[in-house]
Amino acid sequence: MKKESKNQKKALGFASITSQDNFGKTIITPHASPIFTSSTYVYESAEKAQQVFKGEAEAFIYSRWSHPNAELVENKLEQLETFGLNIKAKALVFSSGMSALSALYQSVLKPGDKILAQGNIYGTAVDYFNQYQETFNIEVIYADFKNLAELESILKAEKKIKLIYTETPSNPTLNCYDLKALSLLGKKYNAKVAVDNTFASPYLQQPLKFGVDFIIHSSTKYLNGHGTGLSGFLVGRDVELIKKQIWKIRKLNGTICAPFDAWLLNIGMKTLSLRMEQHCANALAVAKFLQSNPAVSKVNYLGLKEHADHALAKKQMKNFAGVLSFELKKGYKAGEKFMKKIKLCKLTASLGTIDTLIQHPASMSHSFVPKEQREAYGITDGLVRLSVGIEDVKDVIADLAQALK
Ligand SMILES: Cc1ncc(COP(=O)(O)O)c(C=O)c1O
Repeated sequence: MKKESKNQKKALGFASITSQDNFGKTIITPHASPIFTSSTYVYESAEKAQQVFKGEAEAFIYSRWSHPNAELVENKLEQLETFGLNIKAKALVFSSGMSALSALYQSVLKPGDKILAQGNIYGTAVDYFNQYQETFNIEVIYADFKNLAELESILKAEKKIKLIYTETPSNPTLNCYDLKALSLLGKKYNAKVAVDNTFASPYLQQPLKFGVDFIIHSSTKYLNGHGTGLSGFLVGRDVELIKKQIWKIRKLNGTICAPFDAWLLNIGMKTLSLRMEQHCANALAVAKFLQSNPAVSKVNYLGLKEHADHALAKKQMKNFAGVLSFELKKGYKAGEKFMKKIKLCKLTASLGTIDTLIQHPASMSHSFVPKEQREAYGITDGLVRLSVGIEDVKDVIADLAQALK
C-alpha cells in the first residue's frame, strides 16, 4: 500500500472540511450587524472557558443565556429608557411581551402575594393574571387607577400587594395614568410598580423618570415597527436584580428573543424617532377627521384637547402616539359594515406598524376579558381601534371616509 504523504496526513477529511467554519480572510467589522445564529461560543483556551463559566470573564456561552443580537438591542433600549436622565437601568429582551411579563411575575411575586392591576390593561395580561391566581396562589385585584384615593385604601387594607401593574396609554381606551402618583403609592406601601410602555415607546415616555421600578414592552409593536417578528423587553432600575435573578429566570424558562427576531428589532429601532413623529402627526389628523364625521359618536385620542387625560398626557409624554379608538353612532352592526368596507387600513390584531391597522377589541384583542370587566372600562361592543401608520395621511382619511359612508 502506498504511504500517505506528510501533507495528506495533515489535511482534514472530507466530512471535517464540510463541518468547519473557517473564513479565508480576517473579518473586519461589518457595517450592519450580522445575525449570530450560533447556539454556542468557542473559547481560545481551557483557562478562558473556566473563567467564563465561573463568571470571572465575560463571554457568550450558550444562546439561551444570551447572544450578541440580544445584547445589542438591550444596550440600545437601556440608553433610550434613560436618555437624558441620570438613572441607571438594565434591560433584557424576551421572545415576546408576554414572556417579559411572565419573568416579572415570577421574580417579584411569591405564593400568597397579591397584584393590584389596572382593569383596562392588554387583554392577554388580564388572562395571564387570572389564569395563574389559583395555580400560584397570587390573587389579582382590579381597580380603576384614575381613582387614587380608592387605590390607597386598597393598599392600606391589603398588605400582601407586592406589585402594582399599570399600562399607559391604555389599550384600547387610550387613558393616561399618573406614573408619579402610582410610584409614590408603591413606595409608601412597599409594592413594586410596573408599567407597560408599549403604546408610547421610550421616544414619547420614559417611565423611570417618574419613579417606576419596571417597564414592560411588547417590542413586537412600535420598537420593531414593521410587524416582523415577536419580542419583548423587561427593564428595571434595580440593575443587579435584573442581571442576576431575572436573567436567570429567562435562562431557565428559555424565553430569550431569538437572534433573527432581535436582528429585525434592531433594524426597526434605528428609525424609531422618525416613525414616532409621523405616527403622532398622522394620528392627530385622523382623530380630528373622525371627530367631525357624523357617523362617529366618540373619539379617544390623548392628543385631542377634549380628552379628559390630555393635560396629564402632556405632562408625562412628549407626544400622544399613534393609536386611537372610536365609537360608531350605530354601534356593533355599523362597526361590522365599516370594517368590511375598509381597503387601505388592514384588519388585524396588532399595532405600532408603519401601516394603518384596525381592529375590534370586543371580538379580537379583548375577547379573553370578561364582558362586565371590559364594559366597566369603556371597551364596548361598538369600539373600534385604529393604529395609525406613517402613510400619506390623506389616503388614510380617504379610506376611512369611504368606509364610514
Ligand atoms: C400593550 C401590550 N402589552 C403587551 C402585549 C403582549 O406582547 P406580545 O404579543 O409581544 O407578547 C401586547 C400585545 O398586543 C400589547 O398590545
